[in-house]
Amino acid sequence: MNAPAPPAENLRAALAGLLDGLPPRQASQAVERLIASYRGDTPTDAPILRDRADVAAYAAYRMPATFEAVRSALEAFAETAPEWVPGGHTDLGGGTGAAAWAVSAVWGGERPVTVLDWAEPALALGREIAAANPELKDVRWQRSRIGAALTLESTDLVTVSYVLNELTAADRTALVDAAAAAAQAVVIVEPGTPGGYARLIEARDRLITAGFRIAAPCPHSAACPIAPGTDWCHFSARVSRSSLHRQVKGGSLAYEDEKFAYVAAARFPAEPAANRIVRRPQIRKGQVLLDLCESEPSLRRATVTKRHGDLYKAARDADWGDAWPPS
Ligand SMILES: C[S@@+](CC[C@H](N)C(=O)[O-])C[C@H]1O[C@@H](n2cnc3c(N)ncnc32)[C@H](O)[C@@H]1O
Repeated sequence: MNAPAPPAENLRAALAGLLDGLPPRQASQAVERLIASYRGDTPTDAPILRDRADVAAYAAYRMPATFEAVRSALEAFAETAPEWVPGGHTDLGGGTGAAAWAVSAVWGGERPVTVLDWAEPALALGREIAAANPELKDVRWQRSRIGAALTLESTDLVTVSYVLNELTAADRTALVDAAAAAAQAVVIVEPGTPGGYARLIEARDRLITAGFRIAAPCPHSAACPIAPGTDWCHFSARVSRSSLHRQVKGGSLAYEDEKFAYVAAARFPAEPAANRIVRRPQIRKGQVLLDLCESEPSLRRATVTKRHGDLYKAARDADWGDAWPPS
């Protein structure tokens, strides 16, 4: 018997089927409409994802990227707590379920999962796509609004992926407080922009005040060493381009890089990286330049040369976002 396909492949296949039967022109129009709504100044008073065409466009066009960003954040988190496996998961503003797929890719197996969103069409399509993943067959797709009235049942892991930027400041606070009250671990992912980073720092501070420690990407739970307004911490996840991407964006690149920012915080002991590589390493003749965020809160450029032996080999293989030195 063949082993079941890993979640990432399953998801790609399920998404590829979504636009079957939709004329290509109509599919790209739906994506363009969606990109325009997202370009507008959110938050909005009502869901942007209004009907199946919106949601199918979102899922086909954005979900592979949000899935890869969340998966990458969760993998970095899992490295800090190798023994820990979430016994339950709630995804806030979960839309079509990208984070539920990412959790299942990082920690296989079944667990109670709730995906909460205010857009019914997104939840409906999420349920349809999740039928392709046996581990997601019992997900509860819950229609609720994130706001002051939000209360959550206790769970091990709460994820919040690409949602903070759609909320008012008051709703962001309510969301982080509700997540902190309900979960043992909270992972928040945002676009890798200065604004996304600023919202994450705000959430990070609030989680620390609520008694959490930062597990990733930061090597510490002290203040971020980036002087506000001078830079922003973010990472990159590689995403295969679908035919819809090529159609909308033109060009023939087989992949694109999704820039994202994240924070993973836990109430239980996790072991953050000694240092984290916070830019793409620069490989020069006989040396590698690594920009590191260090456990004594500071940013430093390390130069690793051939003279460092095995460490030099490791530096040549190291990637933006990795822990340094590798364990
Ligand atoms: C950019 S999508 C991200 C979806 C999904 N988390 C992902 O990573 O692909 C933002 C989601 O947040 C939901 N959302 C925005 N404001 C909300 C609110 N006040 N209450 C509940 N859901 C909300 C939207 O309906 C949408 O599904």
